[in-house]
This record gives sequence, structure tokens and C-alpha cells, in this order.
Amino acid sequence: MCGPKDWLCLRAIMEYTLLSEKDWDEVEPLIKNCFLAREPTCLALHAKPEALLPLFSIVGDMCMNSGCSYGARDTVNGSKLVGVMLNKIVLLENKDADKNFKYDGTPQEMFKIELIKEVYKDIDLFDDNEGVESIFEFVALTVDPEYKGKGISRKLVELSEEKGIELGCQLGKVEASNIITQHIWSTMDYKTFLSFDFQEYNKKKGKEVFDVAAAAPTTGWQCMSKRFDGK
Ligand SMILES: CC(C)(COP(=O)(O)OP(=O)(O)OC[C@H]1O[C@@H](n2cnc3c(N)ncnc32)[C@H](O)[C@@H]1OP(=O)(O)O)[C@@H](O)C(=O)NCCC(=O)NCCS
Repeated sequence: MCGPKDWLCLRAIMEYTLLSEKDWDEVEPLIKNCFLAREPTCLALHAKPEALLPLFSIVGDMCMNSGCSYGARDTVNGSKLVGVMLNKIVLLENKDADKNFKYDGTPQEMFKIELIKEVYKDIDLFDDNEGVESIFEFVALTVDPEYKGKGISRKLVELSEEKGIELGCQLGKVEASNIITQHIWSTMDYKTFLSFDFQEYNKKKGKEVFDVAAAAPTTGWQCMSKRFDGK
């Protein structure tokens, strides 16, 4: 629901468009102020948006060039970009690109990169899903809080899925790291193939890596997937 001060969002008429690299100047502030400043993993790590933005700019650049990332614009408010779903496609022949990704960044960025590798160390979605040669990865979803509760995030996910199917991907995959998006993807029939729990990770490491209270009500990630080819 819109709050009483959110008069702009009450009369918003949304337009959903594919993003390209020329949109990055508008996407970047959304990633910084709406995604990195609010995403539960970032909150649990007390990571400042500035500390993760360079890495997300590189990943964002890949997504903007992928031809399958979507934006939501408020046509009543000067076509302002108010939501994004950044996506990319991973092909079988490049399946180890993330594992082999070389980067020298801030401690928070390096932690995030190593964490992804650790979480996925025993997982190979290509091996685990017969006949899959192309995976559609939902990378980063965010909606301006002034526009929350209008179904914008769900619409961005739905359009992305349609694009992934149109482009011939056989599988969709996401690390849903917010209780809201876990709800969205599970109601769209995505199934969890791996759960990553902040509290359990703290116990395993014997220290409070994640501030669990800061991420509440989200408790961790649901790594989810869905066959796009009906298999
Ligand atoms: C997560 C985010 C994208 C949601 O965007 P939004 O447009 O405000 O989402 P909505 O308010 O429209 O809610 C979408 C759905 O989640 C449901 N929802 C809202 N709060 C919920 C909660 N606490 N628990 C479970 N479901 C919830 C809504 O009821 C709605 O469900 P419906 O489509 O079945 O009616 C936005 O809050 C955001 O940008 N967060 C910060 C970045 C982030 O965490 N991104 C996701 C990483 S995977």
C-alpha cells in the first residue's frame, strides 16, 4: 500500500521496458539507494552501499548488455525509473565464469564473491538439470520504496521469465534473499534447491558474521530454480 505522503505513486501508470546500457545512469542510483541500502544480506553485513557498488556496477553492466533486464517507469512522473530487475544468461560453455571471476575490491565485495563460491561449491545446475544449456539468472531486483505494494516487483519478475523463455533458456535461477521475493518466486512455482541460513552460517564460523536481527524477517537465502522448458 502507498503511504499518505506517497501521492505520486497513487496516480502512477507503469510502463515496463527492456533496459540497455544507456539506462545505467538511472539504474545506478536505484541499485545503490534501493537495493544495496535495503537488501537483507547487505543489512546483515552492515555493508555500506558505496562498498559494494563498484562490484554491482560490473555485474550491472553485464546485465544491462544482456538484452533481458527490465525497468519499470512511472509515466505520470516524467517516466522516472522506479524499479529494476537485472538479469543475465549463463551458457553451458561459460558455466565456470563466476567461479573463475577475478576481482580485487573492498573487503565487503571480496566477502560477497567468496560467499557465493562457498554456497555453490557442491552445486552445478547444468549437471543437475538434464538438457540445460542456457540458464536465465535473476540477478538483482529492487523497487523504489515510494512505489512498494503495487505489484511492480512481481511484474518485473514475470516479464523477465517470459523473456528467458523467449530466448530459449531451459532453466530460471535466483538467490531470493528477501522474504518478499521468496514469496514471489515460490508462488511462481520456483523450487528451492539450496537454503542458506544466516544463523547457521554464524554457528559454523563460530562468530557473528551476519547480524541476524538486522536482516529480519528474512533469515537467509532461498536459491531457487524452475524449468522453463516444461521438463
Ligand atoms: C523486495 C522488493 C523488490 C519488493 O518490492 P515491492 O514492489 O515493494 O513488493 P510488494 O510490496 O509489491 O510485494 C510483493 C509481494 O510480496 C508480498 N509481501 C510483502 N511483504 C511480505 C512479507 N513480509 N512476507 C511475505 N510476503 C510479503 C506482497 O503481499 C506481494 O505478494 P502478492 O504479489 O502475492 O500480492 C523491495 O522491497 C526491495 O527493493 N527491497 C530491497 C532490495 C531487495 O531485497 N531485493 C530483493 C533481493 S532478492
